[in-house]
Amino acid sequence: MQDQLKSMEAEALARLDAVQDLAALEDWRTEYLGRRGRLAQIMRGLGALPAEERPAVGQVANQVKARLEAAYEERRVALEEEAKARAFRAEAVDVTLPGRPPALGRLHIATQNLREISSIFAQMGFEVYETPEVETDEMNFQLLNIPPHHPARDMWSTFYTDREGVVLRTHTSPGQIRLMRERYPAEIRAILPGKIYRYEQVSARYEYQLHQVEGLAVGRNIHMSDLKGVLVAFAQQMFQGTRRWRFRGSYFPFTEPSFEMDIECVLCGGGGCRVCKYSGWVEILGAGMVHPVVLQNGGYDPAAYSGFAFGMGNERIAMLKYAIDDIRYFFANDPRFLAQFG
Ligand code: DAH
Repeated sequence: MQDQLKSMEAEALARLDAVQDLAALEDWRTEYLGRRGRLAQIMRGLGALPAEERPAVGQVANQVKARLEAAYEERRVALEEEAKARAFRAEAVDVTLPGRPPALGRLHIATQNLREISSIFAQMGFEVYETPEVETDEMNFQLLNIPPHHPARDMWSTFYTDREGVVLRTHTSPGQIRLMRERYPAEIRAILPGKIYRYEQVSARYEYQLHQVEGLAVGRNIHMSDLKGVLVAFAQQMFQGTRRWRFRGSYFPFTEPSFEMDIECVLCGGGGCRVCKYSGWVEILGAGMVHPVVLQNGGYDPAAYSGFAFGMGNERIAMLKYAIDDIRYFFANDPRFLAQFG
């Protein structure tokens, strides 16, 4: 039996040398040292030996067991070290490499421009007031002195909805009525920024969606000179005094008198291009003294109150400021365009 133990030990140690990974090592352990392993099998024969031989054989068996266990342990540690070293080599990280910067978003140029406009007017004491993009025909037109079927409706290409009397607002002007009705009889100095919709053929100059910033001041003794002063101060700040401007008489149903403000076209330097329709000037806003009918619709008595209003095109202004020659860039969502701002 001692010989059996010795030869089993020799075989086990030889096999152990050939073990190359932890899974094979575990198989080896089960085979030789497991509860039903080779060592246990041999030991089961111990009871059949004469009593006086048992202690010596038992001692040898224990020694073999201890040696196999030690050899197993040694192999296990070596294999684990090796596996770890291999993993370190395979997954090596060069901590000195610079990290990859995450792609940060930024505010859209249209939003940046809206905020810049708002902050200029904030300095002049105008609050920001927002009103709905889906409007009633009454607010968008009728209360602004544009009755149904009035030819002035042709000034706005309108998205009607399948709900009778509901439109996508064609301008921010209906907010004037909402604001006046909410604030009467207080004085008003406010701008109303927001998105508007036009049923337009899209081109370099026209989009079917854009942003406007409406302005409204209502109070006592408000004059045309106040309006002009505010608009000139705005243009000077927005364009840092680098662009010429002009006022041109115009017509809007909700103001009387009415005019438009043009800014010198930067894209062609005044020589004429598709953005300025070959005129050298780009219209940025309409303005005027609030029409008495509109004041009245807002709840203010035109005999006691007066007011001025304006409505400017946000994207137009950004085009002039940054020399962008096609309004379609604003909604095309091309990162090559958007990443240039901010
Ligand atoms: N709502 C006009 C438009 O979209 C712009 C405008 C003109 C607004 C004159 C005004 C104004 O407040 O007084 O074409």
